[in-house]
Amino acid sequence: EKKKIYITRKLPQAIYTKLADEFEVKMWDKEDQPVPREILMEEVKEIDGLFCLLTETIDREVIENAPRLKVIANMAVGYNNIDIDTATEKGIVVTNTPGVLTETTADLTFALLMATARRVIEASDYLRNGEWKTWSPMQLTGQDIHGATLGIIGMGRIGQALVKRAKGFDMNVAYYNRSRKPEIEEEMGIRYMGLEELLQQSDYVSLLIPYSPAVHHLIGKKELSLMKQSAILINTARGGIVDESALFNALKTGEIWAAGLDVFEVEPMLLDSPLLTLPNVVTLPHIGSASEKTRLKMADLAAENIIHVLNGGAPITAVNGRAK
Ligand code: GLV
Ligand code: GLV
Repeated sequence: EKKKIYITRKLPQAIYTKLADEFEVKMWDKEDQPVPREILMEEVKEIDGLFCLLTETIDREVIENAPRLKVIANMAVGYNNIDIDTATEKGIVVTNTPGVLTETTADLTFALLMATARRVIEASDYLRNGEWKTWSPMQLTGQDIHGATLGIIGMGRIGQALVKRAKGFDMNVAYYNRSRKPEIEEEMGIRYMGLEELLQQSDYVSLLIPYSPAVHHLIGKKELSLMKQSAILINTARGGIVDESALFNALKTGEIWAAGLDVFEVEPMLLDSPLLTLPNVVTLPHIGSASEKTRLKMADLAAENIIHVLNGGAPITAVNGRAK
């Protein structure tokens, strides 16, 4: 008897076929709408493998409804949408997609940094809205990127890939990470700083740590008040790391200069969010890893993880070690 899989979103045909060749597969057939919770709760009852996205909350209730489940493959590097402790307790392997999205996410992080610093979106709107009447000395002036100090919070794969880009732009790079990484400091020529010092010294602060309750609102009122008035905050990690209402106040009162955000406390971001009333915020709809090639690689890696585990092998990229 074939093992059963549920896929929570319509996937490209090649990935679907790869799984359907080996397993009995059901798939939520909408591309731009997540599977409703009640349907997910039903669909997981008999399955051996679950292919899901960061839009699904895989909590204890879902896991307990899936007594046969052996593997949860999240098509994302972050996995804060999954209750890892419960999965581990039930002997379920959870996998993510590290590595394949590192360079693509670093590209977008740098693009967002540049767009925010040089007011690219605002300037484009200015032209389209017919406000461009003349060239003038201080019109749409932003912040320099070259020669500035970039403070990176989190020095994992994406953080290191961002350092390479920053070095190409002659930036000075500092980082803060839970554990210090002396080899990387040496190899890449970057400085370690405590969080407070990094916030005080940096012209750009880039958040690249995974979300966990321990870093909820790591950047709040006090942290924002330590930053330079000319500083720019870039978040391409998870919305919950930043206290959005404190950020709104800091941007509104000029305590910091601007923010570039790809992630939000609530996603999709609500259109009545006060952040959208501010000209000094660049907002993107969580597209850090969104290149065609990378999204296909992520989907393929998630599928391969399911195939490996359900065929009795070791997962390729497990986040909870070898579950029992
Ligand atoms: C996207 O945010 C991811 O975690 O891959
Ligand atoms: C993600 O791949 C990270 O370690 O930054």
